[in-house]
Amino acid sequence: MLQVESKLITNQEGEKTMANLAINGGSPVRTAPFPQWPQGGEAEMLQLEKVLKAEQWGTLGKEALAFAEKFAQYIGVKHGICVNNGTVSLELILRGLDIGYGDEVIVPPYTFISTASAVAIAGATPVFADIENGTYNIDPASVEANITANTKAVIAVHAGGRPCDMDRIMEIAKKHGIYVIEDCAQAHGSQWKGKKLGSIGHASSFSFQASKNVSCGEGGAIMTDDFEFFKKFWHYHNSGRAYEQAGELSGLMLMGANSRLPEWQAAVLTVQLDKLEEQIERRMENAEYLNAGLKQFDFIKFLDTDDKITRNTYHLYIMKYISENLKGVKRERFISAMTAEGIPCSRGYVPLYKMNAFSTPNFRKSTGSNTDYSSIHLENTEKACNEEALWMQGSMLLGSKRDMDDILEAMGKISCYYKRGSLL
Ligand SMILES: Cc1ncc(COP(=O)(O)O)c(C=O)c1O
Repeated sequence: MLQVESKLITNQEGEKTMANLAINGGSPVRTAPFPQWPQGGEAEMLQLEKVLKAEQWGTLGKEALAFAEKFAQYIGVKHGICVNNGTVSLELILRGLDIGYGDEVIVPPYTFISTASAVAIAGATPVFADIENGTYNIDPASVEANITANTKAVIAVHAGGRPCDMDRIMEIAKKHGIYVIEDCAQAHGSQWKGKKLGSIGHASSFSFQASKNVSCGEGGAIMTDDFEFFKKFWHYHNSGRAYEQAGELSGLMLMGANSRLPEWQAAVLTVQLDKLEEQIERRMENAEYLNAGLKQFDFIKFLDTDDKITRNTYHLYIMKYISENLKGVKRERFISAMTAEGIPCSRGYVPLYKMNAFSTPNFRKSTGSNTDYSSIHLENTEKACNEEALWMQGSMLLGSKRDMDDILEAMGKISCYYKRGSLL
């Protein structure tokens, strides 16, 4: 484990100090890139060649059907459907659960916009519950406080791969008779009490977009244990065709769009999934190493631990930056300094309810909502978004211990600069 003290040098006055910051013109800690993501190879190439030579490139070919089954097995549910992305999967789940115009769906504001836009696209109204300060996931107490007679579902987003408190969310949902939809776009393989995320709520949504831990560029999936829900989701994803009548177009029962996943993507996903477990182990091992190393910096804090989280697969490595503990240096300045040292990091999300998208005529027309989202103020969300949250991409954790040491060294260099105030 790199201890930053060992990297200090002595200047002409005999003081222990560090080299000048890269942001001020000094040499960066590293110039080498972190592991690229997504990663393809020979196995993906062979799969693509297989599809190329096959007679079927789309329309529920065998690759898409096989991957849906394989992924459902991996997650531990009975039924899976491949779709073309993780926004559409959320929308189809909502439609399949008969949620639409006039209904409310509770979502966190600390997520990618799709979690809420899928609700609006389905015609329902997103209602924002706050997140917990300790976890950055949706706060079950805030979920309960926002339930009204119109509430039909809550979407639990496992931000960065860290599971939500699924016990409390399921309990509240049961008490009020609403559905739980898991948004697992960032949580492939994470576990809550030994169960994979995506197997706990009534239905779950996955994304296989380029940045995700299982990727084919663009893709998504719906998972559920409930056969009746599955059949509804199927209709909606296959232009309204019933599950039992694959090619039948007459007498369509439902109005659905074509949301099917092409064979190319499914074929790539099959081999990407084979690599997932080994990559999860590596991410987790490096996350543990970083967790230990970062304890030497009092301006970095961690999200709460919880024994019920049996696996966090780190789509994102999320920290809290405490500016008061680094001489009041603003988070944005710290991020710029880290990035200049060759360690890319970011502030992450802005509160979704601050986005103009929720005040457009189009949004109001499709949902019928008159909510003034701009007047919403959710304390924990705003603290995370505006002050504290500090993200590194989980793919950086696929690197070596040396790479992790570079992260620690950059933090130490910046810490030394601001805390000691002495420079070469
Ligand atoms: C939490 C969350 N939900 C939904 C989505 C949407 O997935 P897609 O980009 O595949 O539509 C994403 C993608 O970034 C996401 O991070």
